[in-house]
Amino acid sequence: MKIYFAPLEGITGYIFRQAYEKNFGGIDAYYTPFVTTRDGGIMKKKELRDILPEHNPGIRIVPQIMTNRAEDFCQAAGQMAEMGYDEVNLNLGCPSGTVVPKGKGAGFLREPEKLDRFLEEIFEKSATAISIKSRIGFYEVEEFPKLLEIYNQYPVKELILHLRTREEFYKGAVHPEIFRYAMEHSKNPLCYNGDIFSIDDLERVKDEFSTLEAVMIGRGFLKNPGFICSGKRIGDFEGVWKKASGLPEVSDDFKNQKEKSWKKNVYLFLRDLEQGYVEVMSGDIPVLFKMKEIWTHLQESFPDGKRWFKKIKKTKRLVEYDMIIAGIFKEFL
Ligand SMILES: Cc1cc2nc3c(=O)[nH]c(=O)nc-3n(C[C@H](O)[C@H](O)[C@H](O)COP(=O)(O)O)c2cc1C
Repeated sequence: MKIYFAPLEGITGYIFRQAYEKNFGGIDAYYTPFVTTRDGGIMKKKELRDILPEHNPGIRIVPQIMTNRAEDFCQAAGQMAEMGYDEVNLNLGCPSGTVVPKGKGAGFLREPEKLDRFLEEIFEKSATAISIKSRIGFYEVEEFPKLLEIYNQYPVKELILHLRTREEFYKGAVHPEIFRYAMEHSKNPLCYNGDIFSIDDLERVKDEFSTLEAVMIGRGFLKNPGFICSGKRIGDFEGVWKKASGLPEVSDDFKNQKEKSWKKNVYLFLRDLEQGYVEVMSGDIPVLFKMKEIWTHLQESFPDGKRWFKKIKKTKRLVEYDMIIAGIFKEFL
């Protein structure tokens, strides 16, 4: 099964992706946070910088575009094709209050006829293959069959479904029953997205949808980086381990050893991340902002995480932050 890293705007830029790949890996493709289009499809410099091939060596990138103007989409896709990309992703999921009123992101789902015309044009003219990342409705899940009917008319490279409506934002449980419907009715390949935070979650999805070929994971990789690959913690595998008969019990020693090597990977990852931001940002505050955002998720994976995070949140200088990190990871210094 393919594993994709979800686009997380403000978090999974190229510095993050390189640090993650170096210390964890196991990702088949990284979807970039969305780039917006301007007249003529030209993106902002900062957004362009994020997708430049020289900033993304050694990994597969799928750049994401958010617009409701077919011409702009095609221009931006053309620019991406010139950079060597063979696929771009259309954002039909962003729930933000600044995006939706403009009829973009999840806001586009409110106008199915307009969306249909837009898709017709971009699938005819785009220089690259197109995948779609969509929510399953704007107000309610009952909208999904109509949306799927629209998507079914086009050769969508992959239809990635975040199994919530726009109105649900990131709250409440996802709707696997809608994914079941999609599995039965989609003419295009599907990817499951939403609330996979552990190996147990992933196994549940695999059991339920045995022919599924891809999942996309976002916040799970922030909370527990590498849980899917060589940097994983043995604890994540216990449920799976127990299910498979005949395998020996995992000793406490082995578990401790694994936990320690995971923690070391996290330490190195955080160091690379901080270093990467220091090189391109000026002053401590923007770097601290980035690191604090990571810790809002990462704290959940540490026994004393809340306590550490309280201290991290208060820091205004990088040297203070570094001292706290030294306390958390003292065995590796
Ligand atoms: C902070 C944040 C930023 C996000 N930015 C994007 C984005 O740029 N493009 C996009 O398609 N989805 C974006 N998403 C949605 C995620 O890609 C993903 O669909 C969602 O978090 C559900 O997956 P998860 O439960 O594995 O995190 C964002 C989500 C969060 C929390």
